[in-house]
Amino acid sequence: MIKKNKYNIETQIVHGNLSHTSACNDLVDPIHMTSTFSFKNSKEGEEAFSDIGKSYVYTRISNPTTKQLNSKIALLEEGDTAVSTASGMSAIASIIMTFANPGDNFVTCNSVYGGTFALFNNNLKKFKIIPRFISPQNAGLPEKIEKLINNNTKLLFLETPSNPTLDAIDIKVWAKIAKKHKILLVVDNTFATPYLQKPLTLGADVVVHSATKYLCGHGDIIAGVIVSSKKIIDKINTEYLIHFGPCISPFNSWLILRGIKTLALRMEKHSDNALKIALWLSKHKDVKKVYYPGLKTHPSYEIAKKQMKKYSGVLSFEVYGGMDAGKKVLDNIKLCVLAVSLGDCETLIQHPPSMTHSSYLKEDRVSAGISDGLVRLSVGIENPDDIIDDLKEALSLLNS
Ligand SMILES: Cc1ncc(COP(=O)(O)O)c(C=O)c1O
Repeated sequence: MIKKNKYNIETQIVHGNLSHTSACNDLVDPIHMTSTFSFKNSKEGEEAFSDIGKSYVYTRISNPTTKQLNSKIALLEEGDTAVSTASGMSAIASIIMTFANPGDNFVTCNSVYGGTFALFNNNLKKFKIIPRFISPQNAGLPEKIEKLINNNTKLLFLETPSNPTLDAIDIKVWAKIAKKHKILLVVDNTFATPYLQKPLTLGADVVVHSATKYLCGHGDIIAGVIVSSKKIIDKINTEYLIHFGPCISPFNSWLILRGIKTLALRMEKHSDNALKIALWLSKHKDVKKVYYPGLKTHPSYEIAKKQMKKYSGVLSFEVYGGMDAGKKVLDNIKLCVLAVSLGDCETLIQHPPSMTHSSYLKEDRVSAGISDGLVRLSVGIENPDDIIDDLKEALSLLNS
């Protein structure tokens, strides 16, 4: 499935596969903002419906702007093809719903985005599709992972680095287990993006993204993308996406195409800023622990170093004083924006135990390593010294 392009990734990010859909030679392709496509006559209409992937019939099924986006992401992730969706959640749900039937299960780590955890742990119950969770501490131990696999296990699902404790999980280890058991390995590559990590080249079968985050990069849309072989993407399309219908708007596809052109520059800056801030935080007296895979003290530093180019822009830190102290940091920041989400140009700050991961039961939160005083930063592309000054002031008010 691995597809190589002769250009370096920075060039691919800008130029894509060099194909343009416009007849006017525009540098930037227009947005094909249409719900339907017309036919010259009934014969053409009939032919279009006899081979629906071949020509455009309806934007829920395919659209030229979205096709450009799909081909660019597939190129960057080195996959055969891709499909875009209305959100990262709909992308994740469509994969699970396509490959698992009632009575089936899948194995995943409990350190994942809170919405993903809620989908797995609550919503999928109705369909009798059961998640089998492993803790991040055990996610590198093949025997512990394999213990969770039985005849009804249809896939392995990983988020790496994971949310919000930034555990890097060894994709090659999980890929080997997936191959051995002839099941799929799905990797959520939202935090790293293909600029920093390419799961398909490490043995994963499917890559999924919340394109809301770094791929778009400007905090103005919600979208998801899935990259895989043609066979797998066709199956997800026909068995789930086309008729459940969470399709992406062509306008959002266009905004992602626009945002993605600066992906390499942004990921470099996000990563450098986050490392600087993580190092500063790790020396602060009010900070108990810093979670950033680029810190040598992080338990999964060696794994992150092996499979990532740099360490991306998200970090978490635990302050002394538990829940109240965590919330107090948020109440005293001035420059960082108190908001969930990540991957935007602005630095965003939030408190996972009371916000993104509040749907976890206390024991699940403890098992996933999400302590009461944990604060998550999605470091933006500002001057990092200004973020440090903002954090310095907010932390200085903790004991007031
Ligand atoms: C790692 C990860 N995957 C998936 C999602 C869900 O994406 P969306 O909000 O685009 O539905 C998120 C959202 O924060 C996320 O952080």
